[in-house]
Amino acid sequence: MTMTREDFLALDADDPLAHFADEFYLPEGIIYLDGNSLGAMPKAAKTRALEVIDQEWGEDLIKSWNKAGWFNLVEKLGNKTAKLIGADEGEVIYADATGLNVYKLVAAALEMRPDRKVIVMEGSNFPTDNYMVQGLIKQLDRGHEIRFAEDGEILDAIDDDVAAICITHVHYKTGHLHDMAAITKKAQDCGAIAIWDLCHSAGALPVDLNSANVDMAVGCTYKYLNGGPGSQSFMFVARRHHGKAVQPLTGWWGHDVPFGFERDYRPRKDIRQFSTGTEPITSLAISEVGLDIFLRADMNEIRKKSLKLCDLFIELIEERLGDYNFKLVTPREHNRRGSQVSVSSENGFPIMQALIDFGVIGDFRAPDIMRFGFTPLYVSYVDVWDAVDRWKNIMDTKAWKREEFNQKGAVT
Ligand SMILES: Cc1ncc(COP(=O)(O)O)c(C=O)c1O
Repeated sequence: MTMTREDFLALDADDPLAHFADEFYLPEGIIYLDGNSLGAMPKAAKTRALEVIDQEWGEDLIKSWNKAGWFNLVEKLGNKTAKLIGADEGEVIYADATGLNVYKLVAAALEMRPDRKVIVMEGSNFPTDNYMVQGLIKQLDRGHEIRFAEDGEILDAIDDDVAAICITHVHYKTGHLHDMAAITKKAQDCGAIAIWDLCHSAGALPVDLNSANVDMAVGCTYKYLNGGPGSQSFMFVARRHHGKAVQPLTGWWGHDVPFGFERDYRPRKDIRQFSTGTEPITSLAISEVGLDIFLRADMNEIRKKSLKLCDLFIELIEERLGDYNFKLVTPREHNRRGSQVSVSSENGFPIMQALIDFGVIGDFRAPDIMRFGFTPLYVSYVDVWDAVDRWKNIMDTKAWKREEFNQKGAVT
């Protein structure tokens, strides 16, 4: 390629999404390539948080459950998210953490297929999904089992014994993207329920759940959707299953009449049955700010820029860091990858620590993966150039060998 920094600046000058960067706060000099782990803070989040605390909680106290719409925030945010993932109004709700929601959805799916015992999952998936289903199986104690399959093996792993598949759309470590429509079709042709984890695809690329006829989905909001640390997860359940699929964590928020205070649980017949209990309102309110930014952006433009940022990053690594044996782990084909680039290196951990110290924030996933997430609303083309430039400097000067870069914290 042999492009110059000026060429990257020229791409920024032509970028229809460039103006969105002003809506996010990032510390001076930081190139943030970790929005696939924790999205950057929308500037308006601070104002919104103060509003909730000072006015809605401080002044209006309990009246805010009605006056500020706190009780319905879970559906309001669900409806906004629905627009980003190809769902309809009333099919998405916010609640709890992703793992908990995996538990609820898989449990509901197993109840819908009582004679089947197999759940197909990707063994190398982000472990919490597998852990939660393992816990569910143990608790049910009815002979269920997970059939693990890796990328390329999933279609073959689905047969008439399968009750449900629960697959993550974009792999957290490698960034590979599954063919949602093809896997869903195979699952449904075999009579299984198709559940998707959208943690690394919601807000990262166009997702069209209803076009793919997906049954259920789950996703987090603290990554590409910029909802803030620990922000709530969302669930999608196709309308055709409402009133039929019932999740087992039967708290009062999913009761048919929560304020009827009846003795016995009666499931609601809409998406709200998937909610369980009182939600963290301040956090939800902040999440809405990130969603509102997304609703003003064109997801096809986001995808276009994301692919280009990733392509250029890969090309620069190969051109400028070719002597250092970094191995590309993410597929090159556009229809096979999400919005991250992962490379493996036996010295990946200290090199990533050095990069962070030099102001290029990515992360490390054991045993040897360096992950870089590309979030087109606040990452520019020149960031790509500068990131690789700083990386080259770290390699050429051997700065990564400094003792301090070998210290492991609790979070990598
Ligand atoms: C695919 C996937 N599922 C789930 C999670 C996290 O789940 P939770 O929100 O329950 O911590 C992650 C976190 O990175 C993830 O990548």
